[in-house]
Amino acid sequence: MNKKIKKILLKKNKSKIVSLTAYSKSIAKILDKYVDIVLVGDSMANVLYAHKDTHKITLENIIQHTISVKMGIKNSLLVVDMPKGTYNNFKSAEKNIKLVIKETGCDAVKIENNKKNYKIIERLTKKKIPVMGHIGFTPQFKKKFKIEGQTKAETIKLLKEAKLIQKAGAFSIVLECLSPKSAKIITNKLKIPTIGIGSSSNCDGQILVTDDMLGLSGFYPKFVKKYLNLNRIIENAVKQYTRDVKLKKFPSNKNFLNGS
Ligand code: KIV
Repeated sequence: MNKKIKKILLKKNKSKIVSLTAYSKSIAKILDKYVDIVLVGDSMANVLYAHKDTHKITLENIIQHTISVKMGIKNSLLVVDMPKGTYNNFKSAEKNIKLVIKETGCDAVKIENNKKNYKIIERLTKKKIPVMGHIGFTPQFKKKFKIEGQTKAETIKLLKEAKLIQKAGAFSIVLECLSPKSAKIITNKLKIPTIGIGSSSNCDGQILVTDDMLGLSGFYPKFVKKYLNLNRIIENAVKQYTRDVKLKKFPSNKNFLNGS
């Protein structure tokens, strides 16, 4: 088993697993010093490409961004989101995932659950491809946002999904926007770690979209904690640069290259 995955598994019930998304080397290099898992998420669709959902992100988009992210990663587990339509059946899933791994050198892939792809996960993990599952609000398959697991019946269904993903051999599962109670039940019942987003601190770990927590994306639902207003910081720097150029304060003598 991949050593980085083993390390993640050993954290269950011991210490929280910290995860964030990255789409480029510069951000990945910073995250790599602190986080356990870096996800190249298909959330890049909304964050970088202004798509209304994640459906049109292509394998090429994901591969290009992961090549960049990989350059910044030494320690963290690098997980890649498989885009919608790239794992409809085992044959295409295997072909596309092998291509992603070959081109990027990532450690694992994430597959959203559509209640039909357990067998695909099982066949992939039997071929030693590490898979992370994803249940609850799965943007590739659900149109309407809703907190899931708010009733006992819903929680039982979610737990069943999570257990089937675990049985299929996934090494962890993202729980997106689940009620705190269902996140707690699922986390307690599973042997593999759960990584929550909008699902309370009852999960084994947490993930956020980095651009959201940095205040860069403009998307700040209640479950996001904005640690910085990077938009404002960048804007101030750009404003100062603009002023300096116009006032001929930049470049100054200090910025002249020797000998030129
Ligand atoms: O695409 C993504 O960034 C994700 C996380 C929000 C879990 O799937």
